[in-house]
Amino acid sequence: MDINQKDFIETVHVRGVQISLLASGDGTEIIYHKLNPGIRWALEPTEGWTALEYLYILSGELKYPAGNGFKVLKAGDSFFRNPVAEHFIFQSYQTTEFLYITSQPIFHHYSKSTHYIMDLAVSIEQKDGYTVDHCSRINRLSMLMGEELGFNAKQLLVLNKASFLHDVGKVKVPLSILQKPTKLTAEEWEIMKKHTTYGRELLESTQVPSLVEAAPIVEQHHERYDGKGYPYGLKKDEISVEASIIAVVDSYDAMTTDRVYQKGRSKEEALEEIFRCRGTMYNPDIVDIFLSLQNKIN
Ligand SMILES: [Fe+2]
Repeated sequence: MDINQKDFIETVHVRGVQISLLASGDGTEIIYHKLNPGIRWALEPTEGWTALEYLYILSGELKYPAGNGFKVLKAGDSFFRNPVAEHFIFQSYQTTEFLYITSQPIFHHYSKSTHYIMDLAVSIEQKDGYTVDHCSRINRLSMLMGEELGFNAKQLLVLNKASFLHDVGKVKVPLSILQKPTKLTAEEWEIMKKHTTYGRELLESTQVPSLVEAAPIVEQHHERYDGKGYPYGLKKDEISVEASIIAVVDSYDAMTTDRVYQKGRSKEEALEEIFRCRGTMYNPDIVDIFLSLQNKIN
């Protein structure tokens, strides 16, 4: 089945996903999706939501966890829920196209809030001296950890959002502080630390369920296992597993990335440093799992 690009009413591109509205009327929307390889896409239940949601695969493959294993949707296969009562997270292993049909309109809400906030996260990382794929790298390593920990679809979806968006609150930190080449004053550092709470507030304001659930994780990503982190000085199990994962992964990526003012360390040096801070900065169980995955980390 060929879809003519001229048939699209409106198209948005969100990090490896093309979403195009093909038709809408009487509340029903038909939306074309094209996912790049390795992209995850989710269906999630929403309170008060009674819509039929239907997928028809045009090309490629979508794999999703079901029971103890996985199911695969191939070209010509369909999938629907009426309504969606649990979380489903799909992954494309090759470029995959599908039609998504819903009986309640979501296109504008969905594309605008998610699109906007993900672009915001990438733009802020660049202003902070990272390369464009910092968010994606944190995201990939976090998902590797979540899968290793046996997270269910809902946990994976929320971790997916939180890891990508962990530093989005930096958008509210003045650039003069974010890009200051010299050491921050005590006062400036207090403002910098607020990016955690700003991030939570920003995600909550979207009212998109998975972003709202990611909000407290984002707020906790600089907490430390020994209670010396910020913003609340939470310790040990008071810090969510998801935030503990992002803390390790974010540090690892920061250590191994070349920044404007310093060259990144080698993988071995960074892993040693993570191990050295096991039980002080980082949750020891999370460090152990991270180190056990080192062959999959680059
Ligand atoms: Fe941060």
